[in-house]
Amino acid sequence: MTSPSTPAPSTSVFAPGLFDGQVALITGGGSGIGRGVADLMAALGAHVVLASRKLERVEAAAEEIRAAGGKATGIAVDVRESSRVKEMIAQVKDTHGRIDLLVNNAAGNFYAPSATLSENAWKSVIEIDLYGTFFCMQAVYPVMKEQGGGSIVNISMTLHYRGWPLMAHATAAKAGIDALTKTLSLEWAKDGVRINAVAPGPIPTEGVRKAFTPPPSADGVPDVFAVEKAMESYAKKMIPLARWGSPADIANMVAYLASPAASWVTGAIMVVDGGEWLAKPPAPR
Ligand code: HXC
Ligand code: NAP
Repeated sequence: MTSPSTPAPSTSVFAPGLFDGQVALITGGGSGIGRGVADLMAALGAHVVLASRKLERVEAAAEEIRAAGGKATGIAVDVRESSRVKEMIAQVKDTHGRIDLLVNNAAGNFYAPSATLSENAWKSVIEIDLYGTFFCMQAVYPVMKEQGGGSIVNISMTLHYRGWPLMAHATAAKAGIDALTKTLSLEWAKDGVRINAVAPGPIPTEGVRKAFTPPPSADGVPDVFAVEKAMESYAKKMIPLARWGSPADIANMVAYLASPAASWVTGAIMVVDGGEWLAKPPAPR
């Protein structure tokens, strides 16, 4: 039996070959949730293009996917640079002829008090999360329009539903991403472009561990497991389904949204969090 804190087995419920012949572009696809999405989409037949700043990271991930029998390539992009984003989209279109799915998953984040957040710290997170998502959506739209449609899935969060101290930049950016999801879904529905978002609950990826690991202790060794331990006990106490999430939990929702089963779904924000945000108690005084 699966322990309450162990992610459910990720055996796919989707039809084999569901995305055969399709092309999925996943920003931040070389790690964490993006990698989970890439693994599932590739296992279901899509050619996955993984895009992030570190070429060696996305190329290594693509190589692992190919070794497992999938079709994958890596491409370097900083989603903050709109001209580079346009080049990347043109490159993927030239190579593959189409882009069926764009997953805007790249993000940056760290806990920091708002009162002392530097202008550049604020700008970095807003530009990666919000500008990056918009730049990618705007660049892929003509491709999807020309081919008669496509699916965009934005990775959001739930922490802005009620506010989350020390995360002004990320919560503001993700609230903006939710707004873009709804607004552009209305603008581009006429072209067959469906736009949805997934809002994950806590998932202990390497990115989260790094972003939220406290500074080095007195002996100079950072406690890289502190976040995981804290999340484990948090999950047991605070998440109705009593476990943290896994990249596969999010990948399953992305695959559903990209599939014909979601052909009448657009402008939706799907919360995948084990019931966490609904159950969140008021902040202690
Ligand atoms: C205060 C900080 C800071 C911190 C960086 N800065 N970390 N300020 N506290 N902990 C400031 C820097 O001092 C600098 O400002 C500015 O932010 C930009 O920092 P750089 O390192 O130069 O930026 P860059 O190399 O572009 O990196 C972007 C980044 C970085 C966002 C700062 O953390 C990153 O690359 N993150 C990607 C991976 C990641 O964050 N994954 C987590 C996603 S998880 P000054 O003024 O000094 O120039 C997630 C889930 C949330 O989003 C939900 C969890 C429950
Ligand atoms: P992660 O592994 O750190 O993923 C972030 C990815 O974004 C990395 O692959 C990184 O690759 C890429 N990236 C960062 N800045 C970029 C930039 N400027 N341009 C292009 N790529 C960039 O973290 P994760 O936990 O999987 O998070 C994935 C998504 O889920 C994010 O949108 C996050 O906000 C969301 N989310 C996560 C959780 C959670 O608990 N894990 C909860 C809610 C929401 P490079 O460093 O190579 O660029």
